[in-house]
Amino acid sequence: MYNLLKGKRGIIFGALDEKSMAWRIAERVVEEGAQITLSNTAMAIRFGQVKELSQKLNAELIAADATNVEDLENVFKKSMEVLGGKIDFVLHSIGMSLNIRKNRPYTDVKYDFYMKTLDISAVSFHKMIQTAYRLDAMNEWGSIVAITYIAAQRTFDKYNDMADAKALLESIARSWGYYYGKAKKVRVNTVSQSPTPTTAGQGIEGFDVFYNYADKLSPLGNADSDDLANYVVTLFSDLTRKVTMQNLYHDGGFSSMGMSEALMQEFLKAAEK
Ligand SMILES: NC(=O)c1ccc[n+]([C@@H]2O[C@H](COP(=O)([O-])OP(=O)(O)OC[C@H]3O[C@@H](n4cnc5c(N)ncnc54)[C@H](O)[C@@H]3O)[C@@H](O)[C@H]2O)c1
Repeated sequence: MYNLLKGKRGIIFGALDEKSMAWRIAERVVEEGAQITLSNTAMAIRFGQVKELSQKLNAELIAADATNVEDLENVFKKSMEVLGGKIDFVLHSIGMSLNIRKNRPYTDVKYDFYMKTLDISAVSFHKMIQTAYRLDAMNEWGSIVAITYIAAQRTFDKYNDMADAKALLESIARSWGYYYGKAKKVRVNTVSQSPTPTTAGQGIEGFDVFYNYADKLSPLGNADSDDLANYVVTLFSDLTRKVTMQNLYHDGGFSSMGMSEALMQEFLKAAEK
């Protein structure tokens, strides 16, 4: 514990259950001295475990559909009220694809599902930041982070329309990083995380293959939710004030690799069989 977030106020979107990356990040930012509110959909609050987290962390839980601007306004207003001032950091850890859920491949997507994927997983980030901007809800030198995946840059079979959503999400971070930075010195970044066993992650067909492949290719192995929580704490802290408009890989080295000895051994083993 370093007290890196002492006195800071934050909003954490997207904690569903103990496996959620947002769950671990919420626990970790509170350990570092922040006061937070939590937000998720009414449905997730009813069926997930986030109420337990809210009690444990003494954090107000505010229901919101992140695609609904009025809901988002309520989250920011209520958060400023209960936390007693403007917000220093916001986490967007939200993603969902109905095409994936309903087994529609990329070559046969339903377009209303596709638009929902983009709205929930990417445009919600724009809406969230625009809401904060309009309400002037962020303190100067505040920090906004969304969680993304390398399928925005490289094609992964079965990642489907989420790849397009992540590309949009990362672009929104750059654009808002410019406008919000210029106006209020607020920084906006995305963190591109290793495959991580969560409800959303495990919803991708062949998740275990994604996971094992990345783990074998990365010299440091996959980054888990605890590693991610530590990294995000630094991005919310005052130690990273000039880091903005970036897509930051947090993946044990995966994004720079071509072939590793560990992965080669797997192929050699398979060839011997
Ligand atoms: N798990 C992985 O392998 C992995 C890797 C890289 C990036 N990510 C990204 O990390 C983020 C968090 O996902 P996770 O893996 O922790 O899974 P998760 O299922 O625990 O979290 C996804 C969250 O999105 C919320 N959500 C869905 N629709 C919403 C809406 N309309 N409004 C508000 N919230 C909504 C869900 O309730 C849930 O809390 C996602 O953006 C995901 O794409 C995941």
